[in-house]
Amino acid sequence: EVIVVKHLEPFRLSLEKLKEVSTRLRKDMIRGLGKHTHHRAAVKMLPTFVRATPDGTEKGDFLALDLGGTNFRVLHVRVMEEEQKMVKMDSQLCAIPQEIMLGTGEQLFDHIAACLSEFLDSQNLKGQTLPMGFTFSFPCEQKEIDKSILIRWTKGFNCSGVEGEDVVKLLKEAIHRRGDYDISSVAMVNDTVGTMMSCGYRDQTCEIGMIIGTGTNACYMEEMKNVKRVEGEDGQMCINTEWGGFGDDGSLEDILTEFDKVVDRTSINPGVHTFEKMISGMYLGEIVRLVLMKLTEKKLLFKGEVSEALRTKETFETKFISMIEDGLENAKKILTELGLTWDLVDARVVRLVCETISSRSARLCAAALATIVDRIRANRGLPHLKTTVGVDGTVYKKHPKMQLSMHFLAPDCKIKFLVSEDGSGKGAAMVTAVAQRLALQSRLLEESDGEEDEEEKVRS
Ligand code: BGC
Repeated sequence: EVIVVKHLEPFRLSLEKLKEVSTRLRKDMIRGLGKHTHHRAAVKMLPTFVRATPDGTEKGDFLALDLGGTNFRVLHVRVMEEEQKMVKMDSQLCAIPQEIMLGTGEQLFDHIAACLSEFLDSQNLKGQTLPMGFTFSFPCEQKEIDKSILIRWTKGFNCSGVEGEDVVKLLKEAIHRRGDYDISSVAMVNDTVGTMMSCGYRDQTCEIGMIIGTGTNACYMEEMKNVKRVEGEDGQMCINTEWGGFGDDGSLEDILTEFDKVVDRTSINPGVHTFEKMISGMYLGEIVRLVLMKLTEKKLLFKGEVSEALRTKETFETKFISMIEDGLENAKKILTELGLTWDLVDARVVRLVCETISSRSARLCAAALATIVDRIRANRGLPHLKTTVGVDGTVYKKHPKMQLSMHFLAPDCKIKFLVSEDGSGKGAAMVTAVAQRLALQSRLLEESDGEEDEEEKVRS
């Protein structure tokens, strides 16, 4: 086991190293926000045009669309002010088969438009035009809340003809091709933003959203004066960091292991989303598999015998990691299913490998989150900050260990984690609800300004 530990050494990141990673991310975030530096920045820091978190007075009925994983969902959401909660009135799920994930953009949006049509029919909603939010969980350059250009696909999607295009336009075109219904404006939302906003309705101190699921990412409320790409100095705007791209310029070279490099090389998007590939669910299982293969080749596992399953890419699912961490009995079952001949020592070693890979993921996320939290603190010139992070994603839910590291990485901040209940579904409704509230408030303000002017005139 001592030799095994030696092989796992490159995955163990000291607190010092994590602090270094955090400092690098801080610099990259500044680069991403800069007017002249953002074009080439690895961490994109995308403006979202979401200018406020909920204040609890939002209400109404909304439609929410959600695309980000292997399913597309449509939801009818009611925001109820009296009870301070969001209720899913009804919803429909449409699977996105692999051939569509890798097909043409037209096929993808036709599929989505068909699913939406079916839902509207079933709910008798085709005549109405409810305000609509669309959680689209990929990096997008937003020009406005309803204009959102896909920068690149991630997480196993690769539909042709969508990168560089406005997603709202593609959706509307697909709906027009059908011709059986129409929609009005659509607020485009990243899943991290949806998570922050839905948690923000319950806890109004929530100003960060984080996802550690199939992919990973975070957003937070930044001061407008630092968002150099968008006009205006006042107030705040939510920034979608797209931290998954951290390291794409080579800045994480010193912590990448040989296994990370293979995962990247054999992925459908080599060279991009370096940080994500060390952390998220789409890749963790594959890292473990590659490590197990290496240890077996070195005769440190399974008496040097590799099974056909273990040799095959992506057969070691990410969910096996938490199952194996839960107990040796699970480990034994899974190893048998993978066609391996194991003994007790093997089962223990496999568990150690799983723990090592999942704690590296948790610690790297903690380092990145610490950077954001400390930035918010510094932005406000506070010695201490107390804040809430809305979180979602299966990897986080199964491995909440990152909370431990936070204390060391952001010592001046006290952080509460709030697990979101379907933030990427309901959050899009909340973004739309907040936008409506802000529009109403500014209308009322203009009216009352007008009245004051009138009074002035009468007095003089
Ligand atoms: C995407 C992000 C998204 C994250 C979590 C990443 O691959 O680039 O936009 O927020 O996955 O779903």
